[in-house]
Amino acid sequence: MTQPVLEINHLVKTIGSKPIIKDISFSVNEGEIFGLLGPNGAGKTTIIRSIVKLISKTSGDITILGKNIDNFYTEAIQHVGAIVENPEFYPYMTGLQNLKTFASMSRTKISNERIHEIIQLVHLDKAINNKVKTYSLGMRQRLGVAQALIHNPKLLIFDEPTNGLDPEGMKEFRLQMKTLASQGVSILVSSHLLTEMELLCDRFAIIERGELTHIADMKVENATENELIHTFRMHLEPLELSKQLLTDWNIDYILDDNAAAHFFIKYIPSDIPELVKKLASEDISIFTIEAHTKTLEDRFLEITKSNGGSMA
Ligand SMILES: Nc1ncnc2c1ncn2[C@@H]1O[C@H](COP(=O)(O)OP(=O)(O)OP(=O)(O)O)[C@@H](O)[C@H]1O
Ligand SMILES: [Mg+2]
Repeated sequence: MTQPVLEINHLVKTIGSKPIIKDISFSVNEGEIFGLLGPNGAGKTTIIRSIVKLISKTSGDITILGKNIDNFYTEAIQHVGAIVENPEFYPYMTGLQNLKTFASMSRTKISNERIHEIIQLVHLDKAINNKVKTYSLGMRQRLGVAQALIHNPKLLIFDEPTNGLDPEGMKEFRLQMKTLASQGVSILVSSHLLTEMELLCDRFAIIERGELTHIADMKVENATENELIHTFRMHLEPLELSKQLLTDWNIDYILDDNAAAHFFIKYIPSDIPELVKKLASEDISIFTIEAHTKTLEDRFLEITKSNGGSMA
């Protein structure tokens, strides 16, 4: 295993006497898209601001490609491209002029070819010679991504990058990020939207009230799908007799509010054929039986509920 691109160990941030980040550790590997998912005020921005040293952490270690940001900040940060606050542009300059101005401030020389390569990657070719003040939110966001990419960073960090984007813009952003990740760039991204994280990330951490409460590995989540099936939804008639039998057999059920005579039961999948035979022998009509796969959404709600939190 190669060294992680970003390593956070026991990060703590206290403001006054208020603990904002309470002992958070995680790492991001090469070519990985890693998410920070959490409700408003959870601490996502604080974690990101600590990494790029927009604020000082109280304790803990942050290492970028083996360089600790406390001792080797300049070496560490040269590998990072970030959009933390809304990226600032000169509105009366064109997108290209903005990028060139930004490139001229870089420590390394950025070629014109590089600038044009990035413009194509973020699909701003058509608008790049227009003034930024005429840009839509989505175009500004793409210019922000271009700016973050200009010095060819190994690690990209985005705080709520898709805020305010329409579904098309979000999809576009996802595809760009996946392309970059496939080229070996690592990406840390925050959001309060679960579905977005599911679609975008390889792994994500759930952050609640300054704590990391769960890490979801999308590859593993998909691989073990079968093990998650433990609820079945059955349409049984007649209703009253079905209720009576399930009760007699000690099978707990919940009736579906949205459809008459549809039962949710928790059951071992391999025991279902036996149950079907029993129901049939009592003259119950079985119209449907379906495995009710628990989605990550359900599990996320469970996780946040058991921690007493709620999502915005
Ligand atoms: N300078 C500050 N002084 C006091 N409290 C602060 C300060 N900055 C942040 N906080 C508090 O720290 C907590 C975490 O804030 P943070 O902005 O990191 O959350 P977040 O997960 O990014 O939320 P959001 O989804 O709203 O962006 C919040 O309770 C916030 O009120
Ligand atoms: Mg935030």
